[in-house]
Amino acid sequence: MLRSQAARLICNSRVVTAKRTLSLAARAVSATPSVRSTMARGPSPLVAARGLKQINFGGTVETVYERADWPREKLLDYFKNDTFALIGYGSQGYGQGLNLRDNGMNVVLGVRKNGASWKAAIEDGWVPGENLFEVEEAVKKGTYVMNLLSDAAQSETWSTIKPLLKKGQTLYFSHGFSPVFSDLTHVVPPKDLDVILVAPKGSGRTVRSLFKEGRGINSSYAVWNDVTGKAHEKSQALAVAIGSGYVYQTTFEKEVNSDLYGERGCLMGGIHGMFLAQYEVLRENGHSPSESFNETVEEATQSLYPLVGKYGMDYMYDACSTTARRGALDWYPIFKNALKPVFQDLYASTKNGTETKRSLEFNSQPDYREKLEAELQTIRSMEIWRVGKEVRKLRPENN
Ligand SMILES: NC(=O)c1ccc[n+]([C@@H]2O[C@H](COP(=O)([O-])OP(=O)(O)OC[C@H]3O[C@@H](n4cnc5c(N)ncnc54)[C@H](OP(=O)(O)O)[C@@H]3O)[C@@H](O)[C@H]2O)c1
Repeated sequence: MLRSQAARLICNSRVVTAKRTLSLAARAVSATPSVRSTMARGPSPLVAARGLKQINFGGTVETVYERADWPREKLLDYFKNDTFALIGYGSQGYGQGLNLRDNGMNVVLGVRKNGASWKAAIEDGWVPGENLFEVEEAVKKGTYVMNLLSDAAQSETWSTIKPLLKKGQTLYFSHGFSPVFSDLTHVVPPKDLDVILVAPKGSGRTVRSLFKEGRGINSSYAVWNDVTGKAHEKSQALAVAIGSGYVYQTTFEKEVNSDLYGERGCLMGGIHGMFLAQYEVLRENGHSPSESFNETVEEATQSLYPLVGKYGMDYMYDACSTTARRGALDWYPIFKNALKPVFQDLYASTKNGTETKRSLEFNSQPDYREKLEAELQTIRSMEIWRVGKEVRKLRPENN
């Protein structure tokens, strides 16, 4: 596809999909007294009737909402009088916008004219003046205003968007970033609107590709303001309409803290650091590039991590040799103890706003894309990732 893939990749800070597979075996549909009382006080008895589920996640019972709770006909009826003004057509705008449109919802896009997103939207069949408008015009048309600008752009444009919001609209985010760190972003949602969040646990590309495969992304939802008493129900329905398979509840604060923490940790930064450290030590000890890469990345991503994803860590241990198993059992606590203080520092840095400040400062610079590209070029030129390129070519399916 000719769309600006490079720009999307650059913008996409969450390229790693953290899909959480629900283990059927772990489901204990229980109703402890505390759960029953939660249900009684729950967000809406209407939703309870739709089959929300209490799942025992390793001993903690949580409520989840599934796509089955909101079949398409129900969504069409529920949103029959609504217009979704989706602002921004980057990673999430693309995935959520096309899924909403394919689900039969009335969607208009708000995008700045003649930027990369405007062109991409036209390529995807959005029509200027019909369902593609400039940001201000789209905001005025929506009953739902879905702010899917980059987090830095949400802050930059808030002074333009805020005065356009009016009573009766619902303001939607896919990240808690802007309202939670309002002292830095200056995004203070109006008190007289429902303000909700649905955060897909993956990139917009994945939101779209899973939807097209008939599957669904895992998402969290949260409510900031509930002026109508329907904010929870709206969030759950909209989560399904944008392509979620199952949805769990969180708060704006918890969403932003866990998300910033996760992508800096195991999802991206942490795992990258660990790969590099292991590879470098192998190389310093005379191992060839291909051996070092195979023992660090290729075996992990091609053989072992898929087992963890599909069946769990215990299964992966069980599938390995007794020698590998013994060594891993001895060494994982050493790694955990060495890394835990780093994770504690990272969480503190997330919670106290340092990560937000850094992200806003960097991503608001006019030349941030060029600067980011230079850093990505450094990664691209590292021996480990150049070796990876050659190793991937040798996979039989790539021959
Ligand atoms: N990406 C993910 O994987 C992911 C996952 C879950 C949640 N989220 C959240 O979803 C939201 C959207 O993120 P995203 O990654 O989809 O964003 P993105 O790919 O960075 O998209 C940025 C969009 O903002 C527009 N934009 C940038 N600066 C602008 C400005 N000054 N005025 C008007 N438009 C401007 C861009 O238009 P141009 O093309 O014209 O520059 C583009 O349409 C964020 O809150 C993010 O945290 C993202």
